[in-house]
Amino acid sequence: MAMAGSAVGLGNIWRFSFITGQNGGSAFLIVYLACVIFVGIPIMLCELTMGRAAQSNPVRTFHKLGAEKSKLSNGLGALALLIAVGFLSFGHFFYAALLSIVGVSFIYFGWVTLGVIYGAVTPLFILAYYGVVGGWTLIYVCKSLLGQLNVQTVEEASDIMTPIIMAPKGAWTAPLLSTLLFVLATAAIIWVGVQKGIERFSKIFMPVLFLLLIVLIFRGLTLPNASKGLKFLFVPDFSQLSGNSVLAALGHAFYSLSLGMGITITYGAYLKPDNNLPRSTVTVAMLDTLVSVMAGLAIFPVVFAMGFAPDSGPSLIFKVLPLAFQKLPLSSLWNVIFFIAVLIAALTSAVSLMEGPVCLMVEELKWKRSKVLLILVPCLCVVSSVIALSAGDWSNFPHLGEFVQKTFLTSKGSLFDAFDNGACQWLIPIACFLTLLYASWVWGPHCAVKEMRSGSTGAMDTNLWHLVSGVYDKNDSGIPSSLAPCVLWAFFVRWISPILVLLAFLDGLGVFR
Ligand code: PHE
Repeated sequence: MAMAGSAVGLGNIWRFSFITGQNGGSAFLIVYLACVIFVGIPIMLCELTMGRAAQSNPVRTFHKLGAEKSKLSNGLGALALLIAVGFLSFGHFFYAALLSIVGVSFIYFGWVTLGVIYGAVTPLFILAYYGVVGGWTLIYVCKSLLGQLNVQTVEEASDIMTPIIMAPKGAWTAPLLSTLLFVLATAAIIWVGVQKGIERFSKIFMPVLFLLLIVLIFRGLTLPNASKGLKFLFVPDFSQLSGNSVLAALGHAFYSLSLGMGITITYGAYLKPDNNLPRSTVTVAMLDTLVSVMAGLAIFPVVFAMGFAPDSGPSLIFKVLPLAFQKLPLSSLWNVIFFIAVLIAALTSAVSLMEGPVCLMVEELKWKRSKVLLILVPCLCVVSSVIALSAGDWSNFPHLGEFVQKTFLTSKGSLFDAFDNGACQWLIPIACFLTLLYASWVWGPHCAVKEMRSGSTGAMDTNLWHLVSGVYDKNDSGIPSSLAPCVLWAFFVRWISPILVLLAFLDGLGVFR
């Protein structure tokens, strides 16, 4: 349940809806579901198994499972250096330097490098822009409490959100203060160590969020023109898939399932030998996907009924939902409850994102918690503030804009987009890809399956047809049938999933167009 709690979050409601809207709806949903089934579930099982086998933090995991360095890690290091030379010859110094560091680190430290990317780099990278969304939610909670979300038209709804995202000169206070407050609140929770208290809140508010989604689905579906929203979400139109859609779907599947950022490995480390890993994996993945689809069902009928553009980006839910609540009696109350629930979802995710790197530094560098926080939090505040003030476009920092676009080779509209894309389309998928390589070619499916068997009551070894048809036929010959889930899993993590991830990368780079 804790893992489901981590998986279900802002990603399902805020990110899933805006990115599905941007990528054309139904066809994107199909690609997303395929990514969850064929890549997400195998990797989640991989991470949980590695975590339980190692019983330690993401960096130590690679020490404990053995083969810290291997031919493959050397090869990857060499490959990174080679690509770095390529970047250098085109004059792209930033990526050349970055890849050189990664390459050298892979050659010297082996797979531990992946643990560091997992445990510290990715979570902090995400946290930097997550705080901005947290800030927006905070503003919406205040506005709902003051009764300022009683909007009647699309224009009124946009008028509230636009100055928050665009942060024009003279209107910096709200986005800046709210972001800083959110980051500091996260740090305070970790400093005081009251995560448990926050979790208690989230136990109440997460079911509330679920119930609110059901109410919204009913209200949305009974609005005139709601069927357009259903069509957008469920009648596939593959011509709507844009250049980056496949990579975006894959990245979002990882993000939503909390993969490729050390979180699932850490959860695995807390599991006992009698916990059923495959069952937990499938349950969490199904729950997470269910909530995302429900969020889509709640949001898109309203989007179309009210005449919003589905591709309006990260501000989508902030504009659409107040208008949807307006169609219900006691609209102010719904707004208050909903945005408080979203704020708590954001806060719990942010706490887990910050706790990982903080714990890691305390354990590995032997620094005091307070020292880590005193170094980390001011840096985070600076970066998050800049992102908050350039979430819409670069008009507040034109020179920085030019610099970032040149160094990151991005044409994306804002720093917010650059961070979101950088994390979800590159960092996380690359970490997941390397995890697949490590688990299937270095640690080895043999060891992984041995770990997985513990607690799974024979399900991993039973012929799949027997399993689904209910004719439970426990295999005790020691060699699983070729249709046993453990064999299928191993085949997926060795071949199918990495190839699918590679294809998504190539598609993202425009190779197939
Ligand atoms: N999986 C979470 C979601 O869907 C996102 C998350 C990211 C949670 C990082 C925790 C840490 O919202």
